[in-house]
Amino acid sequence: MNYMGLNEIREKFLSFFESKECLRLDSFSLVPKNDASLLLINSGMAPMKKWFTGAEVPPRKRVTTCQKCIRTPDIECVGKTARHGTFFEMLGNFSFGDYFKREAISWAWEFFTKVMEIPEDILWVTVYEEDDEARDIWVNEIGVNPERVVKMGKEDNFWEHGTGPCGPCSEIHVDRGVKYSCGKPDCKLGCDCDRFMEVWNLVFTQFDKDEDGNYNRLANPNIDTGMGLERLACVMQGVDNLFEVDTVQNTMKHISKFAGVNYKENENFLLP
Ligand code: ALA
Repeated sequence: MNYMGLNEIREKFLSFFESKECLRLDSFSLVPKNDASLLLINSGMAPMKKWFTGAEVPPRKRVTTCQKCIRTPDIECVGKTARHGTFFEMLGNFSFGDYFKREAISWAWEFFTKVMEIPEDILWVTVYEEDDEARDIWVNEIGVNPERVVKMGKEDNFWEHGTGPCGPCSEIHVDRGVKYSCGKPDCKLGCDCDRFMEVWNLVFTQFDKDEDGNYNRLANPNIDTGMGLERLACVMQGVDNLFEVDTVQNTMKHISKFAGVNYKENENFLLP
């Protein structure tokens, strides 16, 4: 695995999915258009909801983007963990009633192990506890060690945000090694610390949740994936946290100059 700059990773991702016939689109605005359910765009799929439900026709059935996002549910963690930020870029590939689980899983694995050259032995996968189909693809078709494909419940492996398209998901995590562990005897995949970092979420969007909480099966199931670009950069650059990836550091150094404060110089600047 070689060092790779954040801008290079973004380009490699988008061109990889172009090679899988996805149409590359620019990031949509951070401010949602014609969607009263969100204040700010929080994921790659959010501006595409109407393509997922079939209310509008997408420009192509396969799309790839790098979407500017702001996510606030974990805002209390920002500045405390290695992996939480408010603004971030989300890499994604999407299928609107076209390819499904098999392709989404095998392309994700190909991108990680062949394009990024991340060693297989630091990768872990989670699947929704009722999604035997996804587990079977990971273990029997991709050949991932079954001990590294872990079943998790709805809280971790079912993606939904209010109403609209949703479904079971499968996440790929990178084991960053014992030096990032909290050291607790039960520290393992799913631990809140920074050792096992969730990097990519593959959502198998097969339901449309209505206002009454019903999960209605979509006529054509879709794919919605989301990967934190800065998280992947953290892995590819072997740095401690999101704020130390190359592009963020460039910005930080510039600001530090004006502020007359150097990063890491005084820990008391950290929030309590
Ligand atoms: N929409 C999914 C997420 O944001 C991919 O995690």
